[in-house]
Amino acid sequence: MEIIHVSAECYPVAKAGGLGDVVGALPKYQAEMGHVVKVLMPMYRTKFLYQNDWELVHEGGQHLGDHAFNYAVIKEKTNKLGFDLYLVDINGLLDREKIYGYDDDTERFLAFQIAVCDWLAKWQHMPQIIHCHDHHTGLIPFMIKYCYAFNHLASIPTVFTIHNAQYQGWIGWDKAHLLPAYDSWKWGLIDWNHNINPLASAIKCAWRVTTVSPSYMEELKFAANGIENLLATEWKKSVGILNGIDGDVWNPQKDSLIIKNYDEHLVKEGKRRNKKEIASLFGFDEEKPLMVFIGRLVDEKAADVLPDAIRQSVYQHHGNVNFMVLGSGDAEVENRIDALSHQLKGYVNSYIGYNESLSHLLYAGADFLLMPSRVEPCGLNQMYALRYGTIPMVRSTGGLKDTVKDFGDWQGYGIRFNNADVNDITYSVGRAIDLYNNKRDLYNWMRSYMMGIDHSWDASATEYIKLYESLI
Ligand code: ADP
Ligand code: GLC
Repeated sequence: MEIIHVSAECYPVAKAGGLGDVVGALPKYQAEMGHVVKVLMPMYRTKFLYQNDWELVHEGGQHLGDHAFNYAVIKEKTNKLGFDLYLVDINGLLDREKIYGYDDDTERFLAFQIAVCDWLAKWQHMPQIIHCHDHHTGLIPFMIKYCYAFNHLASIPTVFTIHNAQYQGWIGWDKAHLLPAYDSWKWGLIDWNHNINPLASAIKCAWRVTTVSPSYMEELKFAANGIENLLATEWKKSVGILNGIDGDVWNPQKDSLIIKNYDEHLVKEGKRRNKKEIASLFGFDEEKPLMVFIGRLVDEKAADVLPDAIRQSVYQHHGNVNFMVLGSGDAEVENRIDALSHQLKGYVNSYIGYNESLSHLLYAGADFLLMPSRVEPCGLNQMYALRYGTIPMVRSTGGLKDTVKDFGDWQGYGIRFNNADVNDITYSVGRAIDLYNNKRDLYNWMRSYMMGIDHSWDASATEYIKLYESLI
C-alpha cells in the first residue's frame, strides 16, 4: 500500500510535542510492515536540514490569493528515518527557525497545504491513502475534493487524525480569498460557527477520522472546544487508536542520552545512577523521592496549578520530596516556576526551555512523573515514564486513563487522581512519598512490571493499516 502522511512536525526533523514523535514513528513502523510510506512536511531551518543530504524532486508555483509563490520539494537522500521524507520549501514563509508562533501562521500553513495538493496533483500515479495530522493539514481533505485545480485527487481516501482538538486553526472569512478557487456551494464544509475552521472541515470531509486514544474520542463528544456537536454527529466514521512509543528512541537499555543503561532486572541500580546525575546537576538530595514534570507549560497541562501545588506539597510533606520541572510555554507560569526554584532551592529546580536530552535523563532518573493535565488526548510522557520504570502520577483523563492504572487497583502500577488542583496533587504526592518510603516491595514490583508493558507501535500501526484497507 502507498501511504502519504502530511504533518507540520516529524521527529527528529522538527518537533514541538507529541505530534512530532507520532509522525516520526508511525510511518517508520508502517514502512517496516512492507508499505511504501512517505512523509510530507514544511521545510523549516532546523539542524536536521543542514546535517543531511537532499535532492530536488519538484519545483512548482501556486497562488495564495493574489500572491503568487514558488515552492520546491526536496527529498532526504538516504532513507535515514526508515521512510521517504519530503520537505516543502516556500521561500520566506516556511523556512523559519520555529515551527509555529508567527503572526502569519495562517498564510504559512495555507500555502503549505496548497503546495502539497499541487504537487500531488502532478503525480503520474495516485497514492492509496492520504493521512493528514492536526489542523495545519485539515483543509487538504476539502481541497482535494472541492478545489477545481486538485479535484482529480478526489477519489483518494483521506484519513484525518486529531492529536489535539483544543487547537483548530480558525481563519476569519475575510481571508477566504486565500483559498484556491473552490465550489462555493460547498462553503459549509469549511465553516464552523462563522469561521473557517480547518479542524472541523477535516472532520466533515475526511473519509475517516481518528484520534489518539479511545477515551479521548468519547470525551470529545462532550468537551471539544466548541465542536462537540460535530463529533457527536460524525461518530460513525470516527475511532480512537492509542498511540505507541518508538522503541528505537525510547529504550533505557540503549538510550545514549542517559548516564547508565538498564532493563527491568537492573532498574534499581540503573535509575539510582541516573538520579545521582540529576541530583548533582540540580542540587537535590538523592535519598528523597524525585518527581518531575516535563511538558508544555500551558493550561491544558494544568501548568498554572503547578507552582502552588509544588509549594504546598513541599511544605505539607515537610520537605521530604524534590521536584524538577522541564518545560516552556506561558511566560507567567515560566516566571512563577523560576521564582519557586529560587525560593525552595534544594527542593525545587527547573529548566525553562526545550531540551530533548535532559528529558531522557529525567525519564530515566526520576522516581515519579507528574501529569495533572486538564486535557490529554493521548500523552506520550506517561508511556515513556512506564518504559523507564518511573511511576506516572496522572489525572484521570483521555489517554492517561487508558494507559495508567492506580496501584490501589488490581495489578495497578501508577497513581491517579481526579482534579487538576492543588489539593488532589498534594494528596497524590503524599501517596507517592508513602509508597517510596514505606512500601518498598510494592514500589520495586511496580517499576519492573511497568517496564515490561508493551506500548510499542506494532499494534497501533496495524490498526491504522486495517482502517486504510477498509477504505480502498
Ligand atoms: P503534547 O504533544 O501535548 O505536548 P505529549 O505527551 O504527547 O504532549 O508529548 C510531549 C513530547 O514533547 C514528549 O516527547 C516530551 O518528552 C516532549 N517535551 C515536551 N516539553 C519538552 C521540553 N521542554 N524539553 C524536552 N522535551 C519536551
Ligand atoms: C497532542 C496531544 C497529546 C498527544 C500528542 C500525540 O499534542 O496533546 O496528548 O500524545 O498529540 O498524538
